[in-house]
Amino acid sequence: MSHCRVCSSPLQEFFDFGEQPLSAAFTEPGDRREQFRFRLAVGACPDCSMVQLMEDVPRSRAVHEGYPYHSSQSRVMRAHFEETARGFLARELTGDDPFMVEIGCNDGVTLATVAGAGVRQLAFEPSGQGGTRVHRAFFDAVSAREVRESEGPADVVYAANTVCDVPDVAELFAGADALLAPDGVLVFEDPYFGEIIERTSFDQIYDEHVFFFTAHSVRAMAERFGFELVGVERLPVHGGQIRYTLARAGRRRPAGAVAELLAEEVASGLLEAATRERFAAAVGAIREDLPALLRKLAEEGHRVVAYGATAKSSTVTNFCGLGPELVPFICDSTPAKHGKLAPGSGIPVRPSAAFSDPYPEYALLFAWNHAEEIMAKEEEFRARGGKWILYVPEVRVV
Ligand code: TMP
Ligand code: ZN
Repeated sequence: MSHCRVCSSPLQEFFDFGEQPLSAAFTEPGDRREQFRFRLAVGACPDCSMVQLMEDVPRSRAVHEGYPYHSSQSRVMRAHFEETARGFLARELTGDDPFMVEIGCNDGVTLATVAGAGVRQLAFEPSGQGGTRVHRAFFDAVSAREVRESEGPADVVYAANTVCDVPDVAELFAGADALLAPDGVLVFEDPYFGEIIERTSFDQIYDEHVFFFTAHSVRAMAERFGFELVGVERLPVHGGQIRYTLARAGRRRPAGAVAELLAEEVASGLLEAATRERFAAAVGAIREDLPALLRKLAEEGHRVVAYGATAKSSTVTNFCGLGPELVPFICDSTPAKHGKLAPGSGIPVRPSAAFSDPYPEYALLFAWNHAEEIMAKEEEFRARGGKWILYVPEVRVV
């Protein structure tokens, strides 16, 4: 029996993707060693409503093996993080000698912008990469206290695509409590469970995403650790995220948007088991339809390749049973992935240049969260008659 990582109640499982490899476990061709696998399944907590993975993935295995996330590779993401920094500078970093901390700094775009405005900043980043000033440690109570002692209290502790990866929420909140000023805020943005349900974006579910937040579950989690949900903001990036702002309990008046989102979640049935059952049925349909479409295209002699060796695509290929016979290669802009085989599926990864050499007839868009940017960049593919294959919210060719 798996238990809620926030409140310890037994979880109610609602989807099982079966045995899956780690999403970052790209292998060398010819490596015949058996890959580590774990059961990828999701459940919801009946008490605090937190949606989460049923199984823990051993932490040492989950650490990235050399595929750091480079937000600056995407023009849209770079603009997003610059704007994020400007928002903090305008609203939170306005006192005397303000101080901002980021947990896991992506590739440092946010903090570089903050530093550029002359504001003190520091990243907690165990890999030591990315930020201009880096504290080489995971964010926890001990490391947060160290920084508090040497740097003083923080006005903002910010994390993008990080809090949903951290199974030990008690440590996270202990760290925030140790480091934040009395009126400081803990701000984090992660995939929104409401969007996952709305888009049937089941590929947001993989080893590194432990939690799938809603306003309800974040509010409950905050309250448990002496904080309060005082702000929510919808973000268009990565297929629909929410930025949550938490303050120490009673220190700030919650924005109207919090009550609005809470009401919307109730009205849409987001927290109900029937909604999760409908999601399960829709995912089952994609699992049938995607391989069926690819088999049909292969039988008709069409050339199909995939675009973006994303972490998400590991769930798609392994759950839908896609291998090199249906998808001969994935092109990707990350040099460290080139020449390797995608986890589990064994599909080779090739440089972006392989996409146009020559263009395929169909491109399966694994990086659908960057669809607008990629489709604009690959205009020539479409101009020559190429078609994109999308699989969320359902399988279709555009
Ligand atoms: P992400 O969904 O975590 O941002 O991962 C995106 C992956 O897709 C990463 O391996 C890089 C790749 N990618 C491209 O190959 N071309 C692109 O234009 C973009 C935006 C991403
Ligand atoms: Zn719970």
